[in-house]
Amino acid sequence: MHVLYIGDVFGAPGLRATHRFLRDRRDDFDVVVANGENAAGGFGITRKHAEQLWGWGVDVITLGNHTFDQADAVDVLESSARIVRPANYPPGTPGLGHTTVTARNGERLTVGQVMGRVFLDQLDDPFVAADAIVEACPPERALLVDVHAEATSEKKVLGYHLRGRASAVIGTHTHVQTADEEIVDGTAYLTDVGMTGVQHSSIGMQFAEVHARFTTKRPHRFRPAVGPATLCAVHLDLNGRRARAIERVQWRDDGASDDG
Ligand SMILES: [Fe+2]
Repeated sequence: MHVLYIGDVFGAPGLRATHRFLRDRRDDFDVVVANGENAAGGFGITRKHAEQLWGWGVDVITLGNHTFDQADAVDVLESSARIVRPANYPPGTPGLGHTTVTARNGERLTVGQVMGRVFLDQLDDPFVAADAIVEACPPERALLVDVHAEATSEKKVLGYHLRGRASAVIGTHTHVQTADEEIVDGTAYLTDVGMTGVQHSSIGMQFAEVHARFTTKRPHRFRPAVGPATLCAVHLDLNGRRARAIERVQWRDDGASDDG
């Protein structure tokens, strides 16, 4: 099963790059998963963005620490099984922590997400939540776990924790693609898949306001970067619970920009 996992789609440039890439390449993959928690200018996702991503051929959207930034997130999460938020939110949180879809080749893929706790909100234990996702998934079925975390060490150790038990453990959130892909005991691992957005930016935001916040220590409203975006993704070849191959993808969208 050929799986494309698209990294954090950031704002209008990231959405545009995702649209253009999938318009030409969607048929190369059996299933497409995308992290959409930065679709709304960096802060969460709206119903409109979710429906755009689904319409372009994304099968499952993952979220993260920005899950509830937009007012309609609860409604989107409660009305669709094609979007997941971190499984280690407290019991009773709206939405799913994992979901299962049928790929174009007829095989099933479970997609789950956990969020790290180092330098992020103190959710429930991501290791326990990851174990619960594994236990909920039949042993022969392909399983992708998105590890949404800030600290490389925490992501690496979650990958170690899930080795041999997930088909793939793929990191998101830090927005810069790492080059440490490997397959250990049949589990494909990458610390961060990278951002789908404007790479010449402060992880998606224009430099000026972020620079001002760092240098003046006063609040400045961040603005999403504009210009050509790069789609960062990872292509996984999965055979049930075991990964055959993992390959990083970077595709620069040099098409015309309609940003202001
Ligand atoms: Fe994030």
